[in-house]
Amino acid sequence: MRVDVVSLFPEFVAQCAAFGVVGRAQERGLLSLHGWNPRDYAPGNYRRVDDRPFGGGPGMVMLIDPLHDAIEAARAADPREAKVVYLTPQGARLTQAKVRELAAHPRLILLCGRYEGVDERLIEAEVDEELSIGDYVLSGGELAAAVVVDAVARLQEGALNDAESAAQDSFEHGLLDCPHYTRPVEHPLGHVPEVLLSGNHAEIARWRRMESLGRTWLRRPDLLDEQALGKADRALLDA
Ligand code: ADE
Repeated sequence: MRVDVVSLFPEFVAQCAAFGVVGRAQERGLLSLHGWNPRDYAPGNYRRVDDRPFGGGPGMVMLIDPLHDAIEAARAADPREAKVVYLTPQGARLTQAKVRELAAHPRLILLCGRYEGVDERLIEAEVDEELSIGDYVLSGGELAAAVVVDAVARLQEGALNDAESAAQDSFEHGLLDCPHYTRPVEHPLGHVPEVLLSGNHAEIARWRRMESLGRTWLRRPDLLDEQALGKADRALLDA
């Protein structure tokens, strides 16, 4: 897939995407990442990209035209239709289900705001969806864009090796992950749960599912919706 990032600091997102699974996805040609700086589309010696808000108040608002021209340049760089996503605390909360939906698009344009935000008219005209990565305020959308790039890149076919694919199953099923252990079996900090050493794959799967359910119930009961607690889980809990 192709992701274009419109940002005053496009290198920031590129750096975040240079390592590990996401870096490898780029090397394998599964993800191509492109940066567009609205400052390059701002006129005059000062290359101004923001101005004071109408109605007064603190902070600055990003100007329509440099952002519009950067987005249009990004659109024109590839004939495939792009979904334009604006990263903002005012957006809908990003979830794994949304990540899966975004990962299936051939093209995304991620718009990153700075300062107090972006002129609302630009959002109305150019943006398809507003997304937030959580209920806190970052100093710009770049970190949020890097989160989106990471989450969609690892879902591209061929991005993960077998072990990594298996490991990601948990949240994909709407539950928190179970605990993990590796060598040594005995350690001053404790020992590995016996069931994991038993070689009984059915028992291990059951234990892991129980741990996932239990953790989710204790830490994130909001995730335990209808979908997560199907018949198989009821049977596990009733056993
Ligand atoms: N920009 C600033 N804060 C943000 C957040 N929480 N999510 C997405 N974009 C943001």
